[in-house]
Amino acid sequence: MTEPVPATPSTTSEPSRRSFLYRAFTAAIAGFVGLFPAVSGLLFFLDPLRRSSATGGFIKVGQLDAVPDDGTPARFTVVVDRKEDAWTTYLNVAIGAVYVRKDEKKNVIAFNVTCPHLGCAVDYMPGPKTYLCPCHDSSFKIDGTRLNQTPPRDLDTLEVDKEKLKIGEVWVKYQDFRTGEEHKVVKT
Ligand code: FES
Repeated sequence: MTEPVPATPSTTSEPSRRSFLYRAFTAAIAGFVGLFPAVSGLLFFLDPLRRSSATGGFIKVGQLDAVPDDGTPARFTVVVDRKEDAWTTYLNVAIGAVYVRKDEKKNVIAFNVTCPHLGCAVDYMPGPKTYLCPCHDSSFKIDGTRLNQTPPRDLDTLEVDKEKLKIGEVWVKYQDFRTGEEHKVVKT
């Protein structure tokens, strides 16, 4: 008569299940950790878009009462808060400058200070009432028209938010344009 063989506990199914769960768990953790830089990088690239869409692309540069009524341009530095990544934001970073003036009809006009020739910053000269580019000795009239042919075009005007002017604030759609070209082309 054959003795019944006692059932032996499985030696393979339990460890293999544990091993599967362990591998699944570590894969999930690795995926989660790997996702972090990707998400923060994506936020970094999307942030300027989100920020500019929140204001329609306009940035407040100053108060209207700082712009003289006699047509003299006022220079404003353009500052923004720049987000580097998900954890780092630099406050009040200067990204450029503008001249803002009132014309004869009291319309508020804004210019990028960057010379359209090779990108030096122009300075307003109160005596001759012109903007001087020191790099190649070029000048522009107070309304931004070039006075010599070295720059390929007039100073670049920028859009001003008329609604904000009503509450005494100057908001400008700040853009940089390609230099050395006859027509205004926004830098990308
Ligand atoms: S950079 Fe202004 S004239 Fe050349």
